[in-house]
Amino acid sequence: MPAAPFVAKLNEQIANEFAAHQQYVACAVYFDGETLPQLAGFFYRQAMEERDHAMMMVQYLLDTDAPVEIPGVVPPVSTFDDVVAPIALALEQEKRVTAQINELAGVARQAGDYSSEQFMQWFIKEQVEEVATMSDLLRVAQRSSDVQDIEDYVVREQSGEGADPTAPRAAGAAA
Ligand SMILES: [Fe+2]
Ligand SMILES: [Fe+2]
Repeated sequence: MPAAPFVAKLNEQIANEFAAHQQYVACAVYFDGETLPQLAGFFYRQAMEERDHAMMMVQYLLDTDAPVEIPGVVPPVSTFDDVVAPIALALEQEKRVTAQINELAGVARQAGDYSSEQFMQWFIKEQVEEVATMSDLLRVAQRSSDVQDIEDYVVREQSGEGADPTAPRAAGAAA
């Protein structure tokens, strides 16, 4: 079984990932309501990724016979002043998650739990990508006077990526 402090922290992180899922659904619904289908689609896809992150962590705990607690989540922010606000909030969220993921790797290392430390490596790499994606999108959104330019950018640069064969298995996903 993984080190107890890591198990406790990973269970907390499952709640953070589900909260990120809910937040991105809220962002997607906001953009859908504004008839910005590309931004909506982008955030719906991001939401699914966050759910997958949570379920990968669930699977790891299942695989290692560690206790899993499926959490409730805090309500997301659902009203936004303008189209830039949800993206700025998303970038803040990704930076916060990056700190949480790094801390998890640190807890595993400190406990001498090398399997758990290795499990966190994929998430560390993933966070670098997610922060980069979101800060690029924020920059584009901030300098676009026409919201259609943001939509075009999403089509061009963020129309979704293929499956990542190196990703940990998510609970409930086909093996
Ligand atoms: Fe995540
Ligand atoms: Fe993320």
